[in-house]
Amino acid sequence: MVVVLDFGAQYNQLIARRIRECRVYCEILPHDTSLDQLLARKPKGIVLSGGPSSVYEEGAPLVSREFFDAGVPVLGICYGMQLMAHVLGGRVKGGERREYGRTELTVLNDQDLFQGLNPRLIAWMSHGDRVEGVPPGFAETARTSSALAAMSDRKRKLFGVQFHPEVVHTPWGMDLFRNFLYQQCGCKQTWTPDSVIAQAVAAVREQVGGGKVACALSGGVDSAVTAALVHRAVGSQLTCIFMDHGFLRKGEAEQVVHTFGENFHVNLVHVQAQKRFLKRLAGVVDPEEKRRIIGEQYAAVLEEESHKLGDVQFLAQGTLYPDVIESGTREAARIKTHHNVGGLPETLKLKLVEPVRYLFKDEVRAVGEELGLPGEIVWRHPFPGPGLAIRILGEITPERLRSLQEADAIIIEEIMAAGLYRRLFQCFGVLAPVKSVGVMGDQRTYANTVIVRAVTSDDAMTADWAHLPYEVLGRISTRIINEVKGVNRVAYDISSKPPATIEWE
Ligand code: XMP
Repeated sequence: MVVVLDFGAQYNQLIARRIRECRVYCEILPHDTSLDQLLARKPKGIVLSGGPSSVYEEGAPLVSREFFDAGVPVLGICYGMQLMAHVLGGRVKGGERREYGRTELTVLNDQDLFQGLNPRLIAWMSHGDRVEGVPPGFAETARTSSALAAMSDRKRKLFGVQFHPEVVHTPWGMDLFRNFLYQQCGCKQTWTPDSVIAQAVAAVREQVGGGKVACALSGGVDSAVTAALVHRAVGSQLTCIFMDHGFLRKGEAEQVVHTFGENFHVNLVHVQAQKRFLKRLAGVVDPEEKRRIIGEQYAAVLEEESHKLGDVQFLAQGTLYPDVIESGTREAARIKTHHNVGGLPETLKLKLVEPVRYLFKDEVRAVGEELGLPGEIVWRHPFPGPGLAIRILGEITPERLRSLQEADAIIIEEIMAAGLYRRLFQCFGVLAPVKSVGVMGDQRTYANTVIVRAVTSDDAMTADWAHLPYEVLGRISTRIINEVKGVNRVAYDISSKPPATIEWE
C-alpha cells in the first residue's frame, strides 16, 4: 500500500484516486501522523501532497528529517516538494510571480519519473513559492522557462514535482504515477474489483461471525453494493430494510424489490410507509421542515421494523471514503441538512459494518458491476434521501407527487435515449410552486410548470449546468406537456453551483 500524507490541498483525494487507478491500494493520512504510525502500515511508497502553506512560515506543517531516511520512496507534489527541499537543506523562496495553469516544461533527465515520456510536456501548475536550490544529493530533472519543475535523488528514491500530475490537465500524469509506483516503489497491480470483494467479504465474515445484520437499502448504489457484499459474506444473516417513503422515482421500488428479493434472494423487508409520510407532510412547505419530518419519520419506522427483526447486532452502512476523510474536518456552513436520512437510529446501539468505507464512488461502481448488480442501480445518479419531497416546491399532494414522478421518468428516459445519462452527474425534474396560463387546443389552461435540472459535477461540491442539446430539451418538453396531466410549461435551469445548489430545496 501507499500512503498519501495530507497537507491540505484541494486535489488530495484525486491523488489517491489516481494511485488506485494504477491498481495500487492507497490511503490518505493526516500530515501529523507520526513516523512510527506511518511505518507500521508498511507503506511501499509515500506521497506528500500539496497544501496552502509556505514552508518558511511559522507553524507550517512539516515532517522530520528522519522521515526521508526511512528507506521508503517518497514523492512530493507541489507543497510536498517544497517541504522535501526545505527539510533536506535546499532553498525555497516565495516567488514574485505565480505559475498558474498549463505550463510547458522541459525534461532534463528521463531516468526515473519521466521515463518513456516526451522531452517537452504540458503540466498543470498552481504555486507561488518555488524551490530555488535543490538539496544535497538531488538533481534537477525538469524545468519550466522560469522555474525548477522537478527534482530527484535517485539513490534515496526521493522525488519532487512542482506541478500537479493528478489533475486531468496534466495528461501524462498517470505515466508519472506508474513510474513512481511500479518502478521506484515496486508496487504490484493488485487492487482490482475482485480483490476488493474478496477482502471485504473476509472482513465482514470476521467482524460479524454468526451475528445478525440489518441494512437500510435506499435504492442507491452505495447501499446496494454494501448489501450485496454483506450478503455474499454472511447470506441469510443479513436482512435488508427497504423503506418506501413514497418519494422515490417511478419504478424504483419495484426494481429494488426485484433485484434484491427475487434475483439475489436477500431477506428483504419492504416497508410501505407512503401514507404515513404523506400525512405528516400535509401542508408543510418549508424545505428544512420537510427534511426534519422525513428524517424523524424515517428513523421511527426503521426503529419499529428493526425491533421486529429481533436480536440484530450489526448495521451495514454504505459510508464511502470521501465521507471518512472529510468527517470532522470540513467546517462548511450548513446550507442544507444533508444525510439526515438513511441509517438506523443510534439508540439501537448497533455496531457498524462498513464494507465500502475505503472506496471511492467509481470503485464502488466497479465492485457493483463485478457483483452482478444491474446497470440501472450501479450507474444510478445520486438521489437525496428525502427524495422527490424536496423537488416538489411548496405543498406535497398525491397529485403533485404523481405529476413529478411522471415528468421525472420522461426526463430520464430521454436523457438515456440520447446516450447522455452517464455523462451527467444528475438530471431530474422539479415541480414549481406556480401555475401559468397556457393554451391547449382552443382551451385556456392554468397549470403547473416542470423545471428540468441537469448538471455535470465530480463531487457535488460544485456543479455546472449541462449544455443539453436543444433537440433533447425539445423532446423532453413536448413529451412532458403532452403526457403529464396538469403540466403546461417546461423550463430549463441554467444556474451553476455556486451560487445556486443542485437541488432546489
Ligand atoms: P445541493 O442541492 O446541496 O446537493 O447542491 C448536493 C448533493 O446532495 C444531494 N442532496 C441530499 N442528499 N439528503 C441527501 O441524502 C438531502 O437532504 C439532500 N439534499 C441534497 C443532492 O442530490 C446532490 O447530489
